[in-house]
Amino acid sequence: MEGVGDRSFRKAMASIGGFDEACAEFLRVPMHAHIPSLSEQYVAGETDPIPLAAQVMGSDPELMAEMARALAEKGAPRIDLNCGCPSNTVTGKGAGSSLLKDPNLLYEIAKAMVDAVDVPVTAKLRSGFTDTSLFKENILAAQESGIAFLTLHPRTKEEGYGPPARWDLIAKAKSLLKIPVVGNGDIASVEGAHQVLKETKCDALMIGRGALMNPWIFQEIKASFSKEPFERPKNGLEIYLRTFAADLTEEMPIRNRIGKLKQLMGFYFKGSDVLLAKRSEMLKRDYASTQEFVEQTLVALNY
Ligand SMILES: Cc1cc2nc3c(=O)[nH]c(=O)nc-3n(C[C@H](O)[C@H](O)[C@H](O)COP(=O)(O)O)c2cc1C
Repeated sequence: MEGVGDRSFRKAMASIGGFDEACAEFLRVPMHAHIPSLSEQYVAGETDPIPLAAQVMGSDPELMAEMARALAEKGAPRIDLNCGCPSNTVTGKGAGSSLLKDPNLLYEIAKAMVDAVDVPVTAKLRSGFTDTSLFKENILAAQESGIAFLTLHPRTKEEGYGPPARWDLIAKAKSLLKIPVVGNGDIASVEGAHQVLKETKCDALMIGRGALMNPWIFQEIKASFSKEPFERPKNGLEIYLRTFAADLTEEMPIRNRIGKLKQLMGFYFKGSDVLLAKRSEMLKRDYASTQEFVEQTLVALNY
């Protein structure tokens, strides 16, 4: 998740584990991009031993193929094509969710990437641009390109993050496609995970914001499926927070480091009503160092 799901968050999540794969935030491939330097932004191994996929976004098939090759050389185990970003800056350049207006271009880009590398190429789609009229064409075009699986965030670009994710469209994709479908959108609890799997029969789940609010969500879901009890480790939050803070390098101004910590914990404090009650007090305070933030937060959370 661009701007939130960065290296520090990935490392913190890896300290908790429970998920089978992570995917890095998108790398935008603008026209005339210098691919070697752009691909440097992807670093395999950040979430070791959990694989870290790369995600790319752009509108030129040749450049996207070149980028896919560079990322595969850098060890990306999977390369995902972003067909969902709703940002106007991105769509204005014909990338992200803009590809949903043109199934042929979506196909061309995905196919160029598939042909360029030996690792699996996948695509992440929203349900449409302004509406879902091209939904079927888009998912079939993606499948036709040879991608290994498709992830669906079932909202249109126009819907942003507003209305509830339409899980019925995940079910529809599942019924129309032969390749595996990964369901995404508003899965923020164990019950939600069971519900979306039941309603859609999708093959796997992708969770974004739910993990920011509850970093143990993957372990809790897995435990519930294997009918095993799961208890959050007593020092789990401390390790999570310290791993995140330790990754904020000194090159980053202190104000920004505190901002990153506040952003991370701002999501966490939304995880329950009890936490929510402490949220604004913790976030509006001033902190002189990242260490002070960590210590005070742990005290506030009775660690
Ligand atoms: C701040 C933010 C950044 C995001 N960045 C990306 C991104 O880089 N690539 C991507 O495929 N989706 C991105 N998304 C979308 C999420 O991956 C996901 O599809 C969406 O949030 C719905 O799933 P969720 O309810 O589990 O969060 C982003 C979402 C948010 C809120």
